[in-house]
Amino acid sequence: MLDKVEALIAKLIDEVEYTKANELFAKLLGGKRLRARLILTIAPEAPTAPLLGAIVELIHAASLLHDDVIDESQLRRGVPSVNATEGSKTAIMLGDILYSKAFSELTSFDPAISRSIADSVTKLSVGEMMDVEMVTEFNSDRDLYLKMLYLKTATLIEACAYSAAVLAQKDAFAHATYGKNLGLAFQIVDDILDITADEKTLGKPSLNDFVEGKTTLPYIDLYESLDENGKKRLIENHAQVLNEEEKGWIHTQMARHSIIERSYGYARALCDEALEAIGEDAALRAIIETVIQRSH
Ligand code: FPP
Ligand code: MG
Repeated sequence: MLDKVEALIAKLIDEVEYTKANELFAKLLGGKRLRARLILTIAPEAPTAPLLGAIVELIHAASLLHDDVIDESQLRRGVPSVNATEGSKTAIMLGDILYSKAFSELTSFDPAISRSIADSVTKLSVGEMMDVEMVTEFNSDRDLYLKMLYLKTATLIEACAYSAAVLAQKDAFAHATYGKNLGLAFQIVDDILDITADEKTLGKPSLNDFVEGKTTLPYIDLYESLDENGKKRLIENHAQVLNEEEKGWIHTQMARHSIIERSYGYARALCDEALEAIGEDAALRAIIETVIQRSH
């Protein structure tokens, strides 16, 4: 089924009628295609589900192109980012091409769907802006962090699940709840992997989030668990290039306070909420498992 999505993505890029866009897009790695898979799983019989999947994957790709410029990331999925090889201007404009093309196609869908996806992209952008603002100082506010996470990542996944349910005439509210919690869990696992996975598996440097200034959930939990000296040391390390000693200290403290287990517990609880919303559905349960068990 994903083949159809890939073919439609290629067709949409061809329709842009700009060879450079084809060349640059060909260099991007597709990734897990979680959003398209989710749509196809919820609405397997809907004839327009593959097109909706292609549209949201283009939007997602555009958001990552812009995010890599904003984060000044040199690597994406283990290969040099477009901003690294072609420069930021090209990365931004390729993102603009992808998401405006996606929005043109979105107009052919039921307004309930097009509005849901479009609204989610507004939220995505607000979330990204909050993320950038929050980098300036160490954040110990868990609710603020979770709000930013919802906006930046979960909202598009929520809109995908909602829209696919509308296409399939299923319970859109229940599926939206599933998507929201899946999205939150997905991002928390991302936060965990940034700490636990090595550079080769991850395709980006380890402890990269904290070096970039992002105080993700494990760091908020760690901060709460540390004594005054530990809190001071953690804050001093925030948004700094870490030497091996400080990296080692962070890992040791994370282990001492079982932070990774706690973060996985939190992600697991969100997954349970997601499953509770939709009842017994083996295919959607399988998606949850791939998200929680992934290693990169
Ligand atoms: C990755 O976060 C970024 C996102 C999930 C969203 C980025 C959103 C925008 C740039 C605004 C929307 C823009 C368009 C064109 C639709 P991360 O930096 O935490 O994750 P990473 O480690 O994968 O970079
Ligand atoms: Mg980033």
